Amino acid sequence: MNVQVIDGSAIAKEVRGDLKNRAKDLLEQGVKPGLAVIIVGDDPASSIYVRYKVKACEEVGIHSEVHRFPENASQDEVQRCIIDLNDNQHIHGILVQLPLPKHFSSHAITTSIAVEKDVDAFHFYNIGALVTGNSTFLPCTPYGVLKMLAKHHIPIEGQHAVVVGRSNIVGKPMALMLLEKGATVTICSSKTRDLASHTRSADILVVATGRPKMITADMVKTGATVIDVGINRLSDGKLVGDVDFAAVKEKVAFITPVPGGVGPMTIAMLLCNTIESAERMQSANT
Ligand code: GUN
Repeated sequence: MNVQVIDGSAIAKEVRGDLKNRAKDLLEQGVKPGLAVIIVGDDPASSIYVRYKVKACEEVGIHSEVHRFPENASQDEVQRCIIDLNDNQHIHGILVQLPLPKHFSSHAITTSIAVEKDVDAFHFYNIGALVTGNSTFLPCTPYGVLKMLAKHHIPIEGQHAVVVGRSNIVGKPMALMLLEKGATVTICSSKTRDLASHTRSADILVVATGRPKMITADMVKTGATVIDVGINRLSDGKLVGDVDFAAVKEKVAFITPVPGGVGPMTIAMLLCNTIESAERMQSANT
């Protein structure tokens, strides 16, 4: 099979290039797009993700500010910060980096964010909007996946899409977005009985389980498109996805690598949501 490896880093770069122009247009109208990131505690992975987000904002021309709270901060304190940011005209997007410490309710925190600044699309209003096909913000990772499929002209309508993973951040919104685009969608999880019987019938297989190399070559259909959302660090320090890339790529038409696949797209789409938000607020004010 002549496989095409989908280069997420290259597509993300192209997206950032377009966003840079849109940020420049906004600036000419007197608006600098702004993103506020809230981080609670000192989870090392979260700190790295936040650093990447800040750097990407800088590159595109988005103002970013990070509000840091210690692990023992109270939920009230963080919610007060969110409420201030909701009213801050210079901020067009607000995100709270997850996971939060155990004494927090993620639900309470994400629903404190003004829906029109909810660039992660984690607020249940925005999740409901997605369910009914009226979304203003699309969750960043699945939004990035759709962008990759579009870039390679991979058809969705009428195709059988199988999503393995049922998280609120990836699996569930991904399934809804594929459904909205006309796919026939099967949602599986790592607990699905005879998972291979489902994955083998997928034209588009999206995997987000956090289980290294769980999708093997015998589990995919020849000529399928395989999107690997997993990022797993092995004991030898190597990063791998949820798909056995070396074996599966021999059989499929399109596949995303790890690293350099879906990962770079997530941040690009966060920037995209922030710019979209600033554009919407600007056109509402003119
Ligand atoms: N933690 C892991 N992924 C994400 C994400 O996309 N957004 C936020 N806010 N936290 C995360």
